[in-house]
Amino acid sequence: MHSQILIYPADRVFVLTGAGVSAESGLATFRASDGLWAGYRLEDVCTPDAWERDPWKVWEFYSARRRAAFAAKPNAAHRALGELEKRLGERFFLCTQNVDELHELGGSFNLVHMHGELAKARCEAACGAEPVDDRRIYESLHEVGHCRCGARLRPHIVFFGETPLELSRIQDEINRATVMVVIGTSGSVYPAANFVQWARLNKARTIYIGPEAPLNAGAFSITVEGKAGEVLPGLFRVE
Ligand code: APR
Repeated sequence: MHSQILIYPADRVFVLTGAGVSAESGLATFRASDGLWAGYRLEDVCTPDAWERDPWKVWEFYSARRRAAFAAKPNAAHRALGELEKRLGERFFLCTQNVDELHELGGSFNLVHMHGELAKARCEAACGAEPVDDRRIYESLHEVGHCRCGARLRPHIVFFGETPLELSRIQDEINRATVMVVIGTSGSVYPAANFVQWARLNKARTIYIGPEAPLNAGAFSITVEGKAGEVLPGLFRVE
């Protein structure tokens, strides 16, 4: 077992999670040999071009992901982060690349979904309307609703080539953080893969948790090797 990581009274903790934190809930990661991008070409389902070309293919992919995600339950890692937030209050901030809602179900409140949320849809024309709750598993494009401006609803997902959500809030939180904990993300998608570098500029302690080294492994001062659900419970000691 890894020795405990101390969180001091003056610390502020920024957590970044990726698909690995939901792996033990049964949700596929992206880049594993049997991952989501092994079964699909991301250019076909997760880019603005894909949406232009074939919106049904995109909705079919995200409907399948909804089906899996809505059936999944939070695991020990989600719950451990919920517990940590309970102890740290507003000194804790969670940024997830995940589009499932397992962090919320695991007890997290102060969080942003920088790559969007499966349980929402939004206007394809970006007319300014807020995203709407949408949990439907679509069987055909005819079932997909429209925005009040008349444009079609698209998944509330940040496609490759689009700008992630809430970046200025994320930047502010990283600037205030004294500890950055990154869990279950391969470090291959930017800007998230750079957050650890931003935190280092502010002299934060940087910790990676996962079963294998991410691409940006060299940027972390501590690496805790293991599955998130096995490693996280009991890892942090709040002073
Ligand atoms: N606990 C912790 N980490 C795990 C576990 C586990 N039980 N199982 C796997 N991992 C790690 C893998 O070692 C890998 O480093 O999770 C990481 C998953 O990496 P990716 O599949 O690349 O997922 P992620 O980094 O979240 O992808 C980032 O890419 O396709 C886009 O928008 C999508 O948000 C996603 C982004």
